[in-house]
Amino acid sequence: ATYSVAVIVGSLRKQSFSLKVANAFAKLAPPSLKLNVITLHDLSFFNQDLEATPPADWVKFREAIQASDAVLFVSPEYNRSVSGVLKNAIDVGSRPYGKSSFLGKPTGIVVSSPGPIGGLGAALSLRQTLPGIVGPIMQQPEIYLNAVGDAFSEQGEIVKESIRPVLQAYIDAFAVWVDKLKK
Ligand code: FNR
Repeated sequence: ATYSVAVIVGSLRKQSFSLKVANAFAKLAPPSLKLNVITLHDLSFFNQDLEATPPADWVKFREAIQASDAVLFVSPEYNRSVSGVLKNAIDVGSRPYGKSSFLGKPTGIVVSSPGPIGGLGAALSLRQTLPGIVGPIMQQPEIYLNAVGDAFSEQGEIVKESIRPVLQAYIDAFAVWVDKLKK
């Protein structure tokens, strides 16, 4: 079977490492996964006043998640947590209450940083936020991509070869895990 994966990118930056990681996964993924890389430039701020009449961009985002079999959150680390744009996307996707678009979806947490800690703080933050609003979260393997500053070319090609098997192992394991859950 083939499973579609919504890959949510937590950075708006053109040269974002998170975006490059997401696009690298799309290339490395086995044939059983179809990755749909979702950026958040057009997603407006969540506002509870608008819940009864949700803006079109929220509806579009929620429908993209609902149409997916699984979700990968690819987050940068901002001040030991996720970026504001990613938290906003999680909040938009999580509502209305009890009707999270992520509900039941097998979920992966991917973090990176040009620094030495590899986005651990962002991953821990996601592990606090996600359990109540997503499906099962893949526990192993974990992935903390540190020192990504020189890992990709401007075009997004992997130039630090040591990162390739790490990404490959993660997306292969994710494919096996999603397949097991969906069968
Ligand atoms: C950062 N950065 C950062 N890095 C890190 O390892 N731990 C952190 O807590 C933070 N905090 C932080 C806060 C803010 C506001 C910014 C703008 C940046 C650096 C961050 O890892 C770096 O800018 C990455 O390039 C961001 O990810 P993208 O945009 O490349 O995907």
